[in-house]
Amino acid sequence: MKIALLGGTGDMGEGLALRWSKSHEVIIGSREASKGAKAAADYLAKAKAFYGDSMAGSISGTSNPEAAAEAEIVVLTIPHEFAASTIMSIKDRLNPKQVLVSPVVPMIKIEKGMVYSPIIKDGRAISYAESLAQELQGIPVVAAYHAISAKKLANPATILNYDVPIAGDDPGAVELVTKLTKEIPNLRPVYVGPLRASLMIESLTPMIINAAIFSKIKDASIAFVQ
Ligand SMILES: NC(=O)c1ccc[n+]([C@@H]2O[C@H](COP(=O)([O-])OP(=O)(O)OC[C@H]3O[C@@H](n4cnc5c(N)ncnc54)[C@H](OP(=O)(O)O)[C@@H]3O)[C@@H](O)[C@H]2O)c1
Repeated sequence: MKIALLGGTGDMGEGLALRWSKSHEVIIGSREASKGAKAAADYLAKAKAFYGDSMAGSISGTSNPEAAAEAEIVVLTIPHEFAASTIMSIKDRLNPKQVLVSPVVPMIKIEKGMVYSPIIKDGRAISYAESLAQELQGIPVVAAYHAISAKKLANPATILNYDVPIAGDDPGAVELVTKLTKEIPNLRPVYVGPLRASLMIESLTPMIINAAIFSKIKDASIAFVQ
């Protein structure tokens, strides 16, 4: 499968590239094609060193529009301040057969800690993922990976005993993201409902960050316990 990581030169991009390149064609997108290519070469060296002969995928790098145009799955690994404008600027490179994955968490710093900052549209709070879906009519959007530590993801030797809440309206798109999630050792995908539920998923991340700030619980994530 071809997976584009827009803004893949950053922390989340590196982690997802290292995990998925074992079996997939990963394309790192960047505002500058040369930066995308450089990051891709760096990640590829790390992936090859870890997976050795069992590596069946690849990592290449280019500009965000080129990466998006080539891929079946497009992951928006860009901070919330710039993610929507980036995807909107390359909207014409997307098509309804692709799946857009949003791990984007809109949050703001307050005096002490972080708080969730949803998008307000027509007087009601909607998630970042919902606002993307409204803007990109026809392209299935799936919300996932909001609470996975990029640092831990970027070490392929680290086993992630976490759950990944997933929300989306398109069953085929959700199935694809579920499958990709299961490929990362020990991550358990948990479907939590239609895209409307992404409001709750996104809102958990600032709480997890606050647990690190105030209670010194570093790089925590989510697990449903029974
Ligand atoms: N970090 C985490 O642990 C974590 C965990 C879960 C979810 N997330 C979410 O994942 C997304 C990416 O997080 P991250 O930590 O990987 O971000 P990051 O490292 O801060 O940035 C990722 C990339 O965004 C691009 N970028 C920066 N400024 C930009 C601008 N003005 N316009 C367009 N692109 C710009 C840059 O790529 P180029 O310079 O190459 O264009 C950069 O490498 C965020 O939405 C975050 O909420 C992060």
